[in-house]
Amino acid sequence: MTTATALAHPNIAFIKYWGNRDDALRIPQNGSISMNLAGLHTHTRVCFDPSYAVDSFTLNNLPQTGAGLERVSQFLDIVRTLAGKNWKAQVESANNFPTGAGIASSAAAFAALAVAASQAIGLDLDERRLSALARRGSGSASRSIPAGYVEWLPGNNDSDSYAVTLAPPAHWDLVDCIAVLKETHKLTGSSEGHLLAGSSPLQQARIGSCGERLQRCRRAIISRDFDALASVVELDSNLMHAVMMTSNPALFYWEPASIEIMKAVPEWRQSGLPACYTLDAGPNVHVLCPADHAAVVRSRLEIIPGVLQVLTATAGGGAHLTAED
Ligand code: PMV
Repeated sequence: MTTATALAHPNIAFIKYWGNRDDALRIPQNGSISMNLAGLHTHTRVCFDPSYAVDSFTLNNLPQTGAGLERVSQFLDIVRTLAGKNWKAQVESANNFPTGAGIASSAAAFAALAVAASQAIGLDLDERRLSALARRGSGSASRSIPAGYVEWLPGNNDSDSYAVTLAPPAHWDLVDCIAVLKETHKLTGSSEGHLLAGSSPLQQARIGSCGERLQRCRRAIISRDFDALASVVELDSNLMHAVMMTSNPALFYWEPASIEIMKAVPEWRQSGLPACYTLDAGPNVHVLCPADHAAVVRSRLEIIPGVLQVLTATAGGGAHLTAED
């Protein structure tokens, strides 16, 4: 029996990933940029044993069957092929944040699983290979492997599509104030959503103009220019949601309170409070701001009707092994 445990943070995309060039390998149509979210994490223990007949998977202590188990098992097949071993595994995973509500639980999940499973089976993978491996489970998981502010280089094949650190967490003390509007699972998961992106007439325009937004975002991070970051982050979120809403079938992830917040935040900014919004494939609104403004942003979000709770996260580190429990 060989065991390893690992921890990974979710990430919030500043420039979004939506749509693949290769769905099986999860090679994205465009590069993306994100920040890891400290304080929120997935902790995963993997145990391989030649005597196990099947893979098993528990999430927050609940045994998983069906699609959830199947996705983990398929990921473990990739790890087994790399290692040349056919051992089955027991996977135990726990999140300290709501699963499936636009807080990218699959990113933290597959980043932690990539680190724990590869170590437990005896592979010695560097950060680049771990990122490419995590990508096979969930594209955005590639960005939860490196630390801090991260860019996923889209690449052309399995080995050159991986993420790198643009700047370490201490480079910029941004805070993500997450207005949680729903804690239940979203209707259409992102794997399914990526398959629909190409059916929107807007997707080609989004992809064609993405290089320029990536450049603006990189520069804003490197120079810690919040105003420059705010304009490109909101534009990119709106573009992704425009693609979602115009795909066939159309995907609407927003709730009324999501729109309330999207209208309020630019007004706050105009009146001198540095903050900007971005939404992933769910109704929760991530409001980014410099750390010394987080308390005000948080208290303004908390009084908006429909906001269940506000989580806050600073820039987080990379995925890593942890001591055995
Ligand atoms: O990694 P996936 O397949 O869960 O896709 C993530 C998609 C978004 O969260 C909507 C955008 C992103 O870049 O994280």
